[in-house]
Amino acid sequence: MILKAENLVKAYQNNQKLKLEVLKSVSLEIEEKKISVIVGASGAGKSTLLHLLGGLDRPDSGSVYYEDHDIFKLSDDKLTKFRNKNIGFVFQFHHLLPEFTAIENVAIPKMIHGVSLEKSTKKALELLESVGLLDRAHHKPAELSGGEQQRVAVARALANDPSIIFADEPTGNLDSANSEIIHQIILNLRDNLGKSFVIVTHNPELVKLADTVFEIKDGKINN
Ligand SMILES: Nc1ncnc2c1ncn2[C@@H]1O[C@H](COP(=O)(O)OP(=O)(O)O)[C@@H](O)[C@H]1O
Ligand SMILES: [Mg+2]
Repeated sequence: MILKAENLVKAYQNNQKLKLEVLKSVSLEIEEKKISVIVGASGAGKSTLLHLLGGLDRPDSGSVYYEDHDIFKLSDDKLTKFRNKNIGFVFQFHHLLPEFTAIENVAIPKMIHGVSLEKSTKKALELLESVGLLDRAHHKPAELSGGEQQRVAVARALANDPSIIFADEPTGNLDSANSEIIHQIILNLRDNLGKSFVIVTHNPELVKLADTVFEIKDGKINN
């Protein structure tokens, strides 16, 4: 097990100051080197849960443990450092920096980590090669197709060699051919590099690849 969540509770206030309890008490365990998928209706709280598991947001109560470390006991600063070192994120929309080329977008997270330009660029090139985009390295996002942009986003998520990758509807904006390429990359990363994945998706093909499927309903996961 790489990650364990215990009794996560999260509510939002809406504009009438009413409390919307999105997660009522969510507990789950994520296995190492597996693909775990989270499904559920729109608005069920999938993104909210993914953000908590990935330490992008804090719960009202409950815990998330990586190995034996309770990440919400960390200060914001330490949590950010932990995240940058151990976790990769891929979102539905690639969020690449438009002014920078593919290779720069992939190199930047390593440079932020204090790695030299030369080393970061070398690693970025390897990562772009692993997603089949060596020949697109010097293109800016606007010069890439939607599928290629998302593959750059996957390469960027791998920059700091995280053990776990969170993806929020990573193929939600792609056609089936481009989705299939992303699925193959995910399988390859699990099987050959031992990466763990937690993926929110509506894509039945991606659900089929999952080792574990969690369904979120009425603020809970029934496992
Ligand atoms: N920052 C926020 N403030 C207020 N309400 C929010 C916020 N984020 C999400 N919500 C609400 O919480 C519910 C769950 O959202 P979300 O986790 O994004 O669902 P999903 O990803 O399953 O579609 C939705 O009703 C959404 O409108
Ligand atoms: Mg969502």
